[in-house]
Amino acid sequence: MNLNEIPVTEPQRQFYFMNLAKELLKKKEEEVGRKLTFHVTTFGCQMNARDSEKLIGILENIGYVEIEEEDADFVIYNTCTVRDNANQKVYGRLGYLNGFKKKNKDMKIGLCGCMMQEPTVIEKIKKSYSFVDLIFGTHNIFKFAELVCQMLQSEKMVIDVWESTDKIVEELPTDRKYAFKSGVNIMFGCNNFCSYCIVPYVRGRERSREPKDILQEIERLVSDGVVEVMLLGQNVNSYGKNLENPITFSELLEEVCKIEGLKRVRFMTSHPKDLSDDLIRVMAENKKICRHMHLPLQSGSSRLLADMNRHYDKEKYLDIVRKLREAIPDIALTTDIIVGYPGETEEDFMETMDVVEKVRYNSAFTFIYSPRTGTPAAKKEQIPEDITKDRFQRLLKLVQNIGQEKKAEVTGQSVEVLVEQVNEHDDSLVTGRCDNNTLVHFKGDASLIGTIVTVKLTECKGFYFIGEQI
Ligand code: SAH
Ligand code: SF4
Ligand code: F3S
Repeated sequence: MNLNEIPVTEPQRQFYFMNLAKELLKKKEEEVGRKLTFHVTTFGCQMNARDSEKLIGILENIGYVEIEEEDADFVIYNTCTVRDNANQKVYGRLGYLNGFKKKNKDMKIGLCGCMMQEPTVIEKIKKSYSFVDLIFGTHNIFKFAELVCQMLQSEKMVIDVWESTDKIVEELPTDRKYAFKSGVNIMFGCNNFCSYCIVPYVRGRERSREPKDILQEIERLVSDGVVEVMLLGQNVNSYGKNLENPITFSELLEEVCKIEGLKRVRFMTSHPKDLSDDLIRVMAENKKICRHMHLPLQSGSSRLLADMNRHYDKEKYLDIVRKLREAIPDIALTTDIIVGYPGETEEDFMETMDVVEKVRYNSAFTFIYSPRTGTPAAKKEQIPEDITKDRFQRLLKLVQNIGQEKKAEVTGQSVEVLVEQVNEHDDSLVTGRCDNNTLVHFKGDASLIGTIVTVKLTECKGFYFIGEQI
């Protein structure tokens, strides 16, 4: 390799390494007499799912072939560390991967994502999982092609984890999981430092993409068949504040809605503290924006919300819900709730139950608090497990009962459904999503995939509906 030839600017540099990786892979293919395969397993949130599409785009460009099983020539775990059980899953499955590696000496194992931003994790992997070949973090994922080249040319574990970055590299290949819908990052990182949360430490400071880059990406997606986009950020409501020419999230949404051919717009996640009246107005005015808001509550206790550094209280939260429902009566609301946060009393917990009863969420993700190293809440005295578990069960029951009642309320109604796939268990049916994200199965065939049709919700089956196209 002639070092002078390697471009220093991105993304050109990565295209150079993709070409080099292609050559390295071809040699390997000739050696083993077959195509080499890969598998990417994704843990965690939508951001990680989108990052995995970037990894897959590059691996396919290089010439690897994707397979469903984990006994591939190159397996990557894109990890999450938001709660400890996410970490434990990764350690558990690494042992199982090593079994495959013992049978296939050429097998490579790569780890990336949020867990890799924690120095203690890297130490543990070096010590106890030395069969891993490549480790990188969240800030340098754009360098993946370059790292693959290093890995293919090295016998040793390649580790490249950055503490932070202010870089956003555009224009690298991605491979979408679905032909007709796609996530689109509008910002990276988080500045909120909620007291329990590790995300700001592993994803770095908040960085917004330029609106023109976002709009251009969506226009390209639409010309490639995409009809629904999900705008992604840890706190989309603070989008654009730190750009050279500041712009608000609602202004961006209005621009996105103008894109011809785009039929549905979703976004995740909306932090209550930054939710503006303007956003509510834009949602009410634009039919392309899905009638759904994921609005994490975390706790209904104003005392705990202050301790969590959430910058809203119970009253402000309920006020936002009231305004949303006034402007958009059919809006579906979903949320995240943490049970067993340090210092949570029975009274605090009953405040959470009270908000759930008042808001009546369509569904809610409920989590048992998990102490994360380095976060302020982890240093506080923890709640005994039996108390937390009992509260968790009570909350889950309430959330599920209300969710069922909400589903019963809409049974019989006709709704717009985006058809996503032929039903996995019965190929006379197709599966789609209402704009409030509920799953519906109804009679139809593959020709409907990617189209929006009107469906009557005839029967509620718990998590999903059976419907009839009308
Ligand atoms: N940025 C989003 C949340 C991303 S993390 C927001 O602010 O709404 C997704 C969810 O995981 C959070 O909403 C929270 O409910 C949960 N979570 C985060 N840290 C946690 C922890 N230490 N223990 C339990 N749940 C946690
Ligand atoms: Fe975590 Fe809070 Fe940032 Fe969400 S807003 S990612 S909960 S720190
Ligand atoms: Fe997990 Fe990282 Fe998302 S910690 S929740 S994958 S931002």
